[in-house]
Amino acid sequence: MVVRVILTSDVKRYRKAARALIKGKDRVLEIGCASGKTTKIVAEIAEKVVAVDKSALEVSRARERLKDFTNVVIEVRDATEVNEVKKLINDHLNGRVDVVMIDLGGVADPGEVLSLTRRYSFAFKPKLCIVKNRLLIDFIKSCEIYQ
Ligand SMILES: C[S@@+](CC[C@H](N)C(=O)[O-])C[C@H]1O[C@@H](n2cnc3c(N)ncnc32)[C@H](O)[C@@H]1O
Repeated sequence: MVVRVILTSDVKRYRKAARALIKGKDRVLEIGCASGKTTKIVAEIAEKVVAVDKSALEVSRARERLKDFTNVVIEVRDATEVNEVKKLINDHLNGRVDVVMIDLGGVADPGEVLSLTRRYSFAFKPKLCIVKNRLLIDFIKSCEIYQ
């Protein structure tokens, strides 16, 4: 199965893509949820959301923002530890992820973002990944395929 990957350059487009492409029956894994602003948008649409961030402070802010939502689980995890995130998904989403969202921040290494996109696509076979990283877009645009 081919995973559709949507690349976005900024948070406005990241959220716009989430609103447009996530459906009511979807189970979503959000990586890099920060204080949960995008999580809230996704939680209003999706069936269930598991959101992770490596910052305990951001996770506590996100939990406060989402405290009235019953379809959201927010945990401190380092997304590079894919097996740790997998355990969360098994516990809360019965192992099924339809959409993976990845936003590690404005200056995140595009190589790391690309690597995580591939690892999570392989781990969960979602139908869709929505990824935010401007440097990755700049790099791809600068490439030429030599035939
Ligand atoms: C720009 S913020 C995310 C904003 C959020 N997606 C939104 O739309 O409001 C980036 C977040 O990625 C988190 N982050 C960076 N590397 C991470 C990693 N390896 N695992 C989990 N979270 C990570 C940071 O702690 C930070 O909160």
